[in-house]
Amino acid sequence: MHHLKEEEIGAPGGPGAPQKHASCELRSETMMGQQNRLPCRWVREWLFQQASARLLTADADGRHFWMTPVQADAMANETGPDASPAFLAGVAQQMVGISSGVHKLKDSFRTGLGLRYDDYGAAQDLALGVSRELSVWVRHCMVEDFCTIPGLKDLLERGAPVADVACGCGEGLLTLARAFPASTFTGYDNSDHALAAARRRQEELGVTNATFVNPDTEAPMPSEGTFDFVYTMDAIHDMPRPDAVIGAVRQAVKDGGRYLIGDFQGRDSPGANISEMPEAAALFYGYSTLLCMSSAMSQEGAMGLGTLGLTEVGSAALASTRLARQDPFLFPHTLKPKTTDPLSGVGLASGRRDPHGKDRGANAFPGWNTP
Ligand SMILES: C[S@@+](CC[C@H](N)C(=O)[O-])C[C@H]1O[C@@H](n2cnc3c(N)ncnc32)[C@H](O)[C@@H]1O
Repeated sequence: MHHLKEEEIGAPGGPGAPQKHASCELRSETMMGQQNRLPCRWVREWLFQQASARLLTADADGRHFWMTPVQADAMANETGPDASPAFLAGVAQQMVGISSGVHKLKDSFRTGLGLRYDDYGAAQDLALGVSRELSVWVRHCMVEDFCTIPGLKDLLERGAPVADVACGCGEGLLTLARAFPASTFTGYDNSDHALAAARRRQEELGVTNATFVNPDTEAPMPSEGTFDFVYTMDAIHDMPRPDAVIGAVRQAVKDGGRYLIGDFQGRDSPGANISEMPEAAALFYGYSTLLCMSSAMSQEGAMGLGTLGLTEVGSAALASTRLARQDPFLFPHTLKPKTTDPLSGVGLASGRRDPHGKDRGANAFPGWNTP
């Protein structure tokens, strides 16, 4: 258990108040005996806020603070043997990135035109923070989960061309590339900040069977069947024209090849999101206004799906599978033979089918963004 203990605490300003620069000792098992001494007043206030937000637990006196296992999974367990796919604190780094561009959003509210990822600012915090959203799952579960797709493991072991569309900082692509050295991997993303981070990481790891490409400024996806397997994680809902990207993927996948989409899963309507998962919905809609829907509205004629938008327009297609691990932070995954419409909901990798039994087909999106 993570245990944070305040020492030298007195009532601020009262008799026996701590020295002006009194310090607190933060101890945690994960600090392995290191002791960090920080100014007490700052630590107290931060601890009170964290406990009020239930990110930490406090005793009745507000003197001792600790994390329950659930809190530790969400807030601390990013690396090491306890690393948890529920780890969410990396999102805070995204907020640092978003905050440098947030002033531009007041114009977006007026014009309707949102910001692409790189429009938020020059720092890479946004791209790196986004990468940390899924990185525990990527490092510990992705290969195993992908290999539940029938035939994929053999294919990748024999050697096959693979693409990650909207690869971000490339953590997933590089993980696969290391696991399957006989295969070749291409990561596409239109964020140069993310691609720079991906290439840096590739060099650190010495991975030679991966390439990163900006499809808008370097080379588009091939227009004839090239890849055996393509996947897109946590990005369809960010794209201004996901239909065009999915259409391009269809062209780039070989006959018999497959496409896997992992994305957020909400309820079937905004009303159900608000009433049935209010805390998650508050996070997701806030996040969407700040980033996902903004990105999805970043060009004229955009569809503007946003964080939970794909579920609403595409739930018929995106039934969840056993790959969805983080409830309510669900990633429905779907596998699509090239010969079907991109959002037709057939050819699921595993798991349950569309609960509504509907086939909205390739025209699921039109009209989504009309007032
Ligand atoms: C939430 S991030 C996910 C990144 C990565 N898949 C991951 O899971 O870490 C969404 C990514 O989609 C990219 N993106 C948005 N629209 C795109 C488009 N039209 N083509 C390529 N990438 C796009 C953004 O630059 C961003 O890196």
